[in-house]
Amino acid sequence: MCDASIAVFDSGLGGLTVLKEVMRALPHENILYFGDMARVPYGGRSPKTIIRYALENVRFLMQRPIKCLVVACHTVSAYALQDLQREFSIPVLGVIEPLVQEVFKKNPKRILILATQATIASNIYPTRILEKDPKMEIFSIAAPLFVPLVEEGLGAHLATDLIVKEYFRQIEGQNIDAAILGCTHYPLIREAIQKGLGEKVLLIESGAPTAKALCQLLEKEGLLSQRALGKLSFIVTDQREKFCRLASDFLGQAIDLEDVEEVDVAVL
Ligand code: DGL
Repeated sequence: MCDASIAVFDSGLGGLTVLKEVMRALPHENILYFGDMARVPYGGRSPKTIIRYALENVRFLMQRPIKCLVVACHTVSAYALQDLQREFSIPVLGVIEPLVQEVFKKNPKRILILATQATIASNIYPTRILEKDPKMEIFSIAAPLFVPLVEEGLGAHLATDLIVKEYFRQIEGQNIDAAILGCTHYPLIREAIQKGLGEKVLLIESGAPTAKALCQLLEKEGLLSQRALGKLSFIVTDQREKFCRLASDFLGQAIDLEDVEEVDVAVL
Protein backbone atom coordinates (compact mmCIF):
# COMPACT_ATOMS: atom_id res chain seq x y z
CA MET A 1 0.00 0.00 0.00
CA CYS A 2 2.87 2.46 0.78
CA ASP A 3 3.91 2.29 -2.88
CA ALA A 4 0.48 3.35 -4.18
CA SER A 5 0.02 6.98 -5.29
CA ILE A 6 -1.32 10.01 -3.52
CA ALA A 7 -4.20 11.36 -5.64
CA VAL A 8 -4.66 15.13 -5.77
CA PHE A 9 -8.03 16.14 -7.18
CA ASP A 10 -9.22 19.50 -8.47
CA SER A 11 -11.89 20.83 -10.79
CA GLY A 12 -9.17 22.07 -13.17
CA LEU A 13 -5.61 23.23 -13.05
CA GLY A 14 -5.79 25.48 -9.97
CA GLY A 15 -5.06 22.48 -7.74
CA LEU A 16 -1.50 22.62 -9.06
CA THR A 17 -0.95 25.22 -6.31
CA VAL A 18 -1.54 22.43 -3.79
CA LEU A 19 0.28 19.81 -5.86
CA LYS A 20 3.43 21.97 -5.91
CA GLU A 21 3.56 22.05 -2.10
CA VAL A 22 2.77 18.33 -1.82
CA MET A 23 5.66 17.56 -4.21
CA ARG A 24 7.97 19.78 -2.20
CA ALA A 25 7.00 18.17 1.12
CA LEU A 26 6.88 14.56 -0.12
CA PRO A 27 9.47 14.03 -2.88
CA HIS A 28 9.46 10.24 -2.39
CA GLU A 29 5.80 9.83 -3.26
CA ASN A 30 4.16 8.93 -6.55
CA ILE A 31 1.46 11.52 -7.16
CA LEU A 32 -1.48 11.28 -9.52
CA TYR A 33 -3.16 14.63 -10.25
CA PHE A 34 -6.72 14.65 -11.56
CA GLY A 35 -8.10 17.85 -13.16
CA ASP A 36 -11.69 17.89 -14.38
CA MET A 37 -10.86 20.28 -17.25
CA ALA A 38 -14.08 19.40 -19.11
CA ARG A 39 -16.36 20.59 -16.31
CA VAL A 40 -14.40 23.41 -14.66
CA PRO A 41 -15.52 25.73 -13.06
CA TYR A 42 -17.40 24.02 -10.24
CA GLY A 43 -17.69 27.22 -8.21
CA GLY A 44 -20.96 28.43 -9.78
CA ARG A 45 -22.69 25.04 -9.64
CA SER A 46 -25.27 23.70 -7.21
CA PRO A 47 -24.29 21.54 -4.21
CA LYS A 48 -25.86 18.43 -5.78
CA THR A 49 -23.84 18.81 -8.99
CA ILE A 50 -20.61 19.48 -7.09
CA ILE A 51 -21.16 16.34 -5.01
CA ARG A 52 -22.03 14.27 -8.09
CA TYR A 53 -18.93 15.39 -10.00
CA ALA A 54 -16.72 14.72 -6.98
CA LEU A 55 -18.10 11.20 -6.47
CA GLU A 56 -17.85 10.36 -10.18
CA ASN A 57 -14.24 11.53 -10.38
CA VAL A 58 -13.12 9.74 -7.25
CA ARG A 59 -14.94 6.48 -8.16
CA PHE A 60 -12.90 6.59 -11.37
CA LEU A 61 -9.67 7.36 -9.51
CA MET A 62 -10.25 4.46 -7.12
CA GLN A 63 -9.68 2.06 -10.05
CA ARG A 64 -6.03 3.14 -9.87
CA PRO A 65 -3.65 2.15 -7.08
CA ILE A 66 -4.09 5.14 -4.75
CA LYS A 67 -3.52 5.20 -1.01
CA CYS A 68 -5.06 8.56 -0.09
CA LEU A 69 -6.89 11.48 -1.66
CA VAL A 70 -6.22 15.19 -1.32
CA VAL A 71 -9.19 17.31 -2.33
CA ALA A 72 -7.33 20.43 -3.46
CA CYS A 73 -10.56 22.16 -4.53
CA HIS A 74 -12.15 24.39 -1.87
CA THR A 75 -15.58 24.15 -3.50
CA VAL A 76 -15.48 20.33 -3.37
CA SER A 77 -14.00 20.40 0.15
CA ALA A 78 -16.90 22.65 1.22
CA TYR A 79 -19.67 20.41 -0.13
CA ALA A 80 -18.46 16.87 -0.76
CA LEU A 81 -15.75 16.03 1.76
CA GLN A 82 -18.05 14.06 4.05
CA ASP A 83 -19.61 12.14 1.15
CA LEU A 84 -16.14 11.22 -0.10
CA GLN A 85 -14.98 10.18 3.37
CA ARG A 86 -18.12 8.08 3.80
CA GLU A 87 -17.94 6.35 0.43
CA PHE A 88 -14.22 5.55 0.15
CA SER A 89 -12.04 3.52 2.47
CA ILE A 90 -8.81 5.50 1.90
CA PRO A 91 -8.01 8.65 3.93
CA VAL A 92 -9.49 11.80 2.33
CA LEU A 93 -8.03 15.20 3.21
CA GLY A 94 -9.62 18.52 2.23
CA VAL A 95 -8.10 22.00 2.21
CA ILE A 96 -10.43 23.81 4.59
CA GLU A 97 -9.29 22.49 7.97
CA PRO A 98 -5.55 22.94 7.24
CA LEU A 99 -6.25 26.50 6.06
CA VAL A 100 -8.32 27.36 9.13
CA GLN A 101 -5.52 26.01 11.37
CA GLU A 102 -3.11 28.26 9.51
CA VAL A 103 -5.34 31.30 10.11
CA PHE A 104 -5.11 30.76 13.86
CA LYS A 105 -1.32 30.59 13.72
CA LYS A 106 -1.33 34.12 12.26
CA ASN A 107 -3.87 35.52 14.69
CA PRO A 108 -5.67 38.12 12.51
CA LYS A 109 -8.60 40.17 13.85
CA ARG A 110 -10.36 41.27 10.67
CA ILE A 111 -10.23 38.69 7.93
CA LEU A 112 -11.45 38.62 4.35
CA ILE A 113 -12.54 35.34 2.76
CA LEU A 114 -12.07 35.20 -1.00
CA ALA A 115 -13.60 32.17 -2.69
CA THR A 116 -15.97 30.92 -5.36
CA GLN A 117 -19.70 31.66 -5.18
CA ALA A 118 -20.42 28.13 -3.99
CA THR A 119 -17.78 28.18 -1.24
CA ILE A 120 -18.99 31.59 -0.01
CA ALA A 121 -22.62 30.34 -0.08
CA SER A 122 -21.65 27.28 1.99
CA ASN A 123 -20.50 29.65 4.77
CA ILE A 124 -17.93 27.03 5.71
CA TYR A 125 -15.01 29.36 6.43
CA PRO A 126 -16.93 31.79 8.69
CA THR A 127 -18.51 28.82 10.50
CA ARG A 128 -15.18 27.10 11.20
CA ILE A 129 -13.44 30.36 12.16
CA LEU A 130 -16.19 31.62 14.45
CA GLU A 131 -16.35 28.23 16.21
CA LYS A 132 -12.78 28.87 17.29
CA ASP A 133 -12.97 32.63 17.83
CA PRO A 134 -16.44 34.22 17.92
CA LYS A 135 -14.87 37.70 18.08
CA MET A 136 -13.15 37.51 14.71
CA GLU A 137 -14.55 40.03 12.19
CA ILE A 138 -15.20 38.32 8.87
CA PHE A 139 -15.81 39.77 5.41
CA SER A 140 -16.57 37.62 2.37
CA ILE A 141 -16.22 38.22 -1.34
CA ALA A 142 -17.10 35.73 -4.07
CA ALA A 143 -14.61 36.29 -6.89
CA PRO A 144 -15.63 33.91 -9.69
CA LEU A 145 -13.96 35.93 -12.47
CA PHE A 146 -10.50 35.17 -11.08
CA VAL A 147 -10.89 31.53 -12.16
CA PRO A 148 -11.19 32.01 -15.96
CA LEU A 149 -8.43 34.64 -15.85
CA VAL A 150 -6.10 32.02 -14.38
CA GLU A 151 -7.35 29.24 -16.66
CA GLU A 152 -6.59 31.50 -19.64
CA GLY A 153 -3.12 32.34 -18.29
CA LEU A 154 -4.02 36.05 -17.84
CA GLY A 155 -2.82 36.40 -14.24
CA ALA A 156 -0.38 39.20 -15.07
CA HIS A 157 -2.77 41.01 -17.47
CA LEU A 158 -4.26 44.44 -16.85
CA ALA A 159 -7.74 42.85 -16.97
CA THR A 160 -6.93 41.02 -13.72
CA ASP A 161 -5.93 44.27 -11.98
CA LEU A 162 -9.20 45.89 -13.05
CA ILE A 163 -11.31 43.02 -11.82
CA VAL A 164 -9.40 42.87 -8.53
CA LYS A 165 -10.09 46.58 -8.06
CA GLU A 166 -13.80 46.14 -8.79
CA TYR A 167 -14.19 43.23 -6.33
CA PHE A 168 -12.33 45.01 -3.53
CA ARG A 169 -14.39 48.19 -3.82
CA GLN A 170 -16.92 46.64 -1.41
CA ILE A 171 -14.39 46.37 1.46
CA GLU A 172 -12.75 49.78 1.06
CA GLY A 173 -11.87 51.32 4.43
CA GLN A 174 -12.54 48.10 6.35
CA ASN A 175 -8.97 47.71 7.66
CA ILE A 176 -8.66 44.03 6.83
CA ASP A 177 -5.48 42.53 8.29
CA ALA A 178 -5.54 39.15 6.51
CA ALA A 179 -7.21 37.45 3.55
CA ILE A 180 -7.87 33.77 2.97
CA LEU A 181 -7.23 32.70 -0.61
CA GLY A 182 -10.09 30.20 -0.42
CA CYS A 183 -9.87 28.94 -3.98
CA THR A 184 -7.17 26.87 -5.67
CA HIS A 185 -6.69 29.45 -8.42
CA TYR A 186 -6.17 32.57 -6.35
CA PRO A 187 -2.52 31.95 -5.36
CA LEU A 188 -1.79 32.12 -9.08
CA ILE A 189 -2.79 35.80 -9.06
CA ARG A 190 -1.37 36.46 -5.62
CA GLU A 191 0.53 39.54 -6.75
CA ALA A 192 -2.57 41.22 -8.20
CA ILE A 193 -4.55 40.41 -5.04
CA GLN A 194 -1.77 41.73 -2.79
CA LYS A 195 -1.60 44.91 -4.84
CA GLY A 196 -5.39 45.34 -4.61
CA LEU A 197 -5.51 44.82 -0.82
CA GLY A 198 -2.28 46.62 0.04
CA GLU A 199 1.07 45.32 1.22
CA LYS A 200 0.07 45.17 4.91
CA VAL A 201 -2.62 42.53 4.37
CA LEU A 202 -1.40 39.01 5.05
CA LEU A 203 -2.47 36.49 2.39
CA ILE A 204 -3.12 32.99 3.71
CA GLU A 205 -3.23 30.08 1.26
CA SER A 206 -3.89 26.37 1.51
CA GLY A 207 -0.99 24.67 -0.34
CA ALA A 208 1.69 24.49 2.36
CA PRO A 209 -0.69 23.84 5.32
CA THR A 210 -2.42 21.06 3.36
CA ALA A 211 0.91 19.46 2.42
CA LYS A 212 1.92 19.55 6.08
CA ALA A 213 -1.38 17.98 7.18
CA LEU A 214 -0.88 15.31 4.51
CA CYS A 215 2.60 14.43 5.83
CA GLN A 216 1.16 14.02 9.32
CA LEU A 217 -1.71 11.91 8.01
CA LEU A 218 0.53 9.56 6.00
CA GLU A 219 2.88 9.18 8.93
CA LYS A 220 0.03 8.42 11.33
CA GLU A 221 -1.45 5.84 8.93
CA GLY A 222 1.96 4.24 8.23
CA LEU A 223 1.57 5.09 4.54
CA LEU A 224 4.80 6.97 3.79
CA SER A 225 6.73 5.69 0.78
CA GLN A 226 10.33 4.49 1.15
CA ARG A 227 11.24 4.85 -2.54
CA ALA A 228 14.09 7.15 -3.62
CA LEU A 229 12.12 9.49 -5.88
CA GLY A 230 8.44 9.72 -6.67
CA LYS A 231 6.84 9.96 -10.10
CA LEU A 232 4.27 12.49 -11.21
CA SER A 233 1.38 11.69 -13.54
CA PHE A 234 -1.82 13.42 -14.55
CA ILE A 235 -5.35 12.64 -15.68
CA VAL A 236 -7.54 15.33 -17.24
CA THR A 237 -11.03 15.13 -18.69
CA ASP A 238 -10.27 17.57 -21.55
CA GLN A 239 -7.63 19.91 -23.01
CA ARG A 240 -4.65 17.64 -22.46
CA GLU A 241 -2.18 19.82 -24.43
CA LYS A 242 -3.25 23.08 -22.80
CA PHE A 243 -3.08 21.49 -19.37
CA CYS A 244 0.38 20.08 -20.09
CA ARG A 245 1.68 23.48 -21.20
CA LEU A 246 0.23 25.44 -18.27
CA ALA A 247 1.24 22.78 -15.73
CA SER A 248 4.82 22.78 -17.03
CA ASP A 249 4.95 26.60 -16.72
CA PHE A 250 3.43 26.64 -13.31
CA LEU A 251 5.40 23.76 -11.78
CA GLY A 252 8.60 25.04 -13.40
CA GLN A 253 9.43 21.62 -14.82
CA ALA A 254 8.74 20.12 -18.22
CA ILE A 255 5.78 17.74 -18.08
CA ASP A 256 5.90 15.05 -20.74
CA LEU A 257 2.63 14.91 -22.70
CA GLU A 258 2.80 11.11 -22.34
CA ASP A 259 2.37 11.52 -18.59
CA VAL A 260 -0.93 13.34 -19.12
CA GLU A 261 -3.78 10.96 -19.82
CA GLU A 262 -7.14 12.21 -21.09
CA VAL A 263 -10.35 10.42 -20.14
CA ASP A 264 -13.78 11.29 -21.42
CA VAL A 265 -16.28 12.39 -18.77
CA ALA A 266 -18.65 9.84 -20.32
CA VAL A 267 -16.56 7.04 -18.73
CA LEU A 268 -16.70 8.58 -15.25
N1 DGL B 1 -11.10 24.60 -7.65
C1 DGL B 1 -12.11 25.59 -7.31
C2 DGL B 1 -11.99 25.97 -5.85
O1 DGL B 1 -10.93 25.85 -5.26
C3 DGL B 1 -12.00 26.82 -8.19
C4 DGL B 1 -12.33 26.57 -9.64
C5 DGL B 1 -13.77 26.17 -9.88
O2 DGL B 1 -14.69 27.00 -9.69
O3 DGL B 1 -13.95 25.01 -10.23
O4 DGL B 1 -12.95 26.36 -5.26
